[in-house]
Amino acid sequence: MILPVSPARLAAFKILLRVLRENSYASELLHSSLTDSLHEKDLRLATELVFGTLRQQLLLDHVLAFCSAHPLPRLDMEVIVALRLGAYQLRFLQRVPAHAAIHESVELVKAARLKSAAGYVNAVLRKVRTNDAERTWNAFDELTAAGLSLRFSHPEWLVERWLARFGLEKLIQLLEHNNRAPKVYFRINSPDLTSDELSTTLAGQAVRFKTHALSNDVLEVIEGNIYETTLFRNQRIAIQDAGSQLIPHLLDLEASDVCLELCAGVGGKSSQIARLKGSPSPVFALDLHWRRLQVARRLHSLNWKNLHWVTCDATRPLPFLRRFNKILVDAPCSGTGTLQRHPEIRWRLRAEQIREFRRLQLALLENAFQHLLPGGTIVYSTCSLEPEENEAVVHSFLNAHAGASLAIPEGGFLTLFPPETETDGFFAAVMGRKTRQ
Ligand SMILES: C[S@@+](CC[C@H](N)C(=O)[O-])C[C@H]1O[C@@H](n2cnc3c(N)ncnc32)[C@H](O)[C@@H]1O
Repeated sequence: MILPVSPARLAAFKILLRVLRENSYASELLHSSLTDSLHEKDLRLATELVFGTLRQQLLLDHVLAFCSAHPLPRLDMEVIVALRLGAYQLRFLQRVPAHAAIHESVELVKAARLKSAAGYVNAVLRKVRTNDAERTWNAFDELTAAGLSLRFSHPEWLVERWLARFGLEKLIQLLEHNNRAPKVYFRINSPDLTSDELSTTLAGQAVRFKTHALSNDVLEVIEGNIYETTLFRNQRIAIQDAGSQLIPHLLDLEASDVCLELCAGVGGKSSQIARLKGSPSPVFALDLHWRRLQVARRLHSLNWKNLHWVTCDATRPLPFLRRFNKILVDAPCSGTGTLQRHPEIRWRLRAEQIREFRRLQLALLENAFQHLLPGGTIVYSTCSLEPEENEAVVHSFLNAHAGASLAIPEGGFLTLFPPETETDGFFAAVMGRKTRQ
């Protein structure tokens, strides 16, 4: 007999399968039609299950492999995901009774038409609760890359790389940070929303917030559900990581600026540029992917009529005869600064990709420079913690362009180290084009 599975676990199961099969991002799927019918409490549980399971994946698989008679890679993906979900609840969610965690995973494989695997899932998860398995959970106290990799569930190559760069103490802070749930940050995203109206409206809807230590514009939710507020529904506020919010400020925007963003994505920073500039002159926001700009248009065009979305490959000649005096290149990168918010990146990223992004990043910067007016400013940013994508790209670019210089010479980079700044990890360099060369 197939008993109904709880809606939160079923949603988490479907989302995890899509993350694995389609390279999708969990954060996007959790705000898609897959969770439309969930009540707030179920959505909270689904979110916890999805992110928790993705963050702890390496550790969960290690213990499950110990408890399973078959190697995990030989099992159906549905069985692996049901086992991970069950093991995550048994280990990390004290409030879920063990029998419920096991039972729901068994029902999930049945619902996925893998009835024959139900007994197997039951047996493996029962073994996860034994004393032998308990020893396996706790076996990693060595302070080596291999030990830390399993204990904090990060890929070993990345832990090794970070250990050499940051040292043990900072590394552990970073790994612990990545395994905590991220804070929710937001900002004003409307030309006519004042701070007073923001405070009064949110107080009336039981949301408490405070400003971030690095900027009064960055707001942090302390209590309440910001997604349910009228201000969010009417797009008058935008949810955006604190580190990401700091980047457009580096352009030092003024009303007369003519602005371009080369890699606009879903428009978080483009709309902020429009707001900080505070004038109706156009802001051009480019991206390779039409689909992302469709989302951007839906999220931001209501408030910012002067945003123009252009789908194009920004490494190729751009469709503009004019030049710009403020350009943002928020480059595609490995994303190693966002492993708290996007835990799936841990399992997708390969070490060699870090070097591979460099060519694309330099091509984008080069193209941006061709469109920069003398006296203008480029901000180059990434959400990567890796010097190959950050300082090394900027130095290569500056070495090839005598007409470009850092706005703040030597060491004039913004680097946000997540556990210290309570933001995603970001890097940014502000560069100018000399008026005479
Ligand atoms: C770091 S994300 C940008 C995030 C965005 N600025 C924001 O704040 O939401 C990098 C973006 O670069 C885009 N991209 C990748 N290659 C590109 C190319 N050759 N030309 C233009 N955009 C590109 C990707 O589609 C992705 O949206």
